[in-house]
Amino acid sequence: MSLQLDALRVSKQYTRDVWLDESADGDVAPVAAQRSISIFGLGYVGAVSLACLARDGHEVYGVDIDPTKLELVRQGRSPIIEEGMQELMRAVVNGGGVTVTDSMREAILATDVSFVCVGTPPKSNGNQDLTALLRFAEELGHVLPEKSTRHLIVIRSTVKPGTIDELLKPTIEKISGLKAGVDFSICFQPEFLREGTSISDYDNPPFTIVGADDDFAMEELRSIFGHLPCEMIRTSVRTAEMLKYACNAFHAVKVTFANEIGRLCQSANVDPHEVMKLVCMDRQLNISPAYLRPGFAFGGSCLPKDLKAMLYLAKTNDVELPMLANVMPSNRTHIDHAITQVLETGKRKVGIVGLSFKAGTDDLRESPLVAMVEYFIGKGLDVCIYDPSVNIARLVGANRRFIEESIPHIASLMTTDVNALVERSEVLVVAMKSPEVLEAVAKARADQSVLDLAQLPDRRAGDAEYRGVCW
Ligand SMILES: NC(=O)c1ccc[n+]([C@@H]2O[C@H](COP(=O)([O-])OP(=O)(O)OC[C@H]3O[C@@H](n4cnc5c(N)ncnc54)[C@H](O)[C@@H]3O)[C@@H](O)[C@H]2O)c1
Repeated sequence: MSLQLDALRVSKQYTRDVWLDESADGDVAPVAAQRSISIFGLGYVGAVSLACLARDGHEVYGVDIDPTKLELVRQGRSPIIEEGMQELMRAVVNGGGVTVTDSMREAILATDVSFVCVGTPPKSNGNQDLTALLRFAEELGHVLPEKSTRHLIVIRSTVKPGTIDELLKPTIEKISGLKAGVDFSICFQPEFLREGTSISDYDNPPFTIVGADDDFAMEELRSIFGHLPCEMIRTSVRTAEMLKYACNAFHAVKVTFANEIGRLCQSANVDPHEVMKLVCMDRQLNISPAYLRPGFAFGGSCLPKDLKAMLYLAKTNDVELPMLANVMPSNRTHIDHAITQVLETGKRKVGIVGLSFKAGTDDLRESPLVAMVEYFIGKGLDVCIYDPSVNIARLVGANRRFIEESIPHIASLMTTDVNALVERSEVLVVAMKSPEVLEAVAKARADQSVLDLAQLPDRRAGDAEYRGVCW
């Protein structure tokens, strides 16, 4: 072991088969059991993984189809420019724990675990090019039968939900004649590192997510990554695959949001940095899980009104805000999606449970439920509505005017008896979940359908055919 590599492992001691980390009180916590690991694809993800896994005491095989990258690593040089990578790569290669090869077969046979970090670039139509992953799966299928131990394949390349279960796993099984979950394991562990800060991101991920169908994969990965200072969460393969897309889409939306606010601020002579700093200081509604649960469309007296006013300001100032301009159309698409699901049942007696824009208020302005009711009435459906917060006779001002213009005879459609509404309806749209609503909906019959907009407990509604609005 080189002195340089030891220096990079400052507070860590090496024992025969376990890295030990000395905590402040002198206790010794296991860092990672040593494994023999192959890494396919030595780009940003693979090169950083190779260097960090070797640093953590694992025996590492790096595989790439690019001879230049292999040669660089062989010489102890990093194939990517990243802070700290040149030093780390030199240290781990000098330390003797790294082998590079262009032979997939050699690497698979020599190791227990394979991390697959090959590129998944976009095709011209936006779809992923899975050629490299498929090539790996086919080669693995040929080599696996030669192994006497159970091999773990960890896909780290970003892939669409279903890629592992519907493409990679069947390909490996077909060629090898072996069974996933029995003879070998395959799982998905999304990578969250960012270029530029990749080593520190590798060591401090937000969490370690493992999409795995079997315990073996989880336990192996726990032995490799369990020492990281974050939660380790097991989920399904499909969820883990989708999660990576959701995270990256969210990051892209955040950047675009800040930039659109920036352009609007610039045109309105406002400091966008100060605005966004203050936006981020609100940890209750802004930087928080609030508004981030899939559910029904937004409405009410503020969000649509203020969004429209902001877009008007942008138009007046000649500022284009394509993302914010598409928020209202997207919200309308969500309402239309709910309407379509009700129409698809073919049932004509519709019971609406909850009418205001959110449960517990009588504010009907811009309520997406009102938009649904308007549509159903227009289609000649028989609509009955229950919302204990809404007393039409007591509505005043803009709220009253809004509903009178939208659904003039609304009072004749309302009932105060939720049980009677459930009893008479062929299809129920449930937008609230007070105790009395839950009790009534639990009595729904098998001949009825329920569209859930409110996330009913257990995602069911008595014996009725159940559908979630977007789940
Ligand atoms: N770059 C990031 O910050 C980042 C972060 C998280 C996830 N990801 C995902 O990880 C994957 C890899 O990303 P990257 O940026 O490291 O890609 P990259 O293009 O930098 O590297 C991919 C490497 O795979 C090699 N390769 C291609 N086919 C191969 C094969 N059959 N066998 C062995 N090697 C092969 C290429 O030569 C290349 O060196 C992608 O799916 C990407 O979406 C990237």
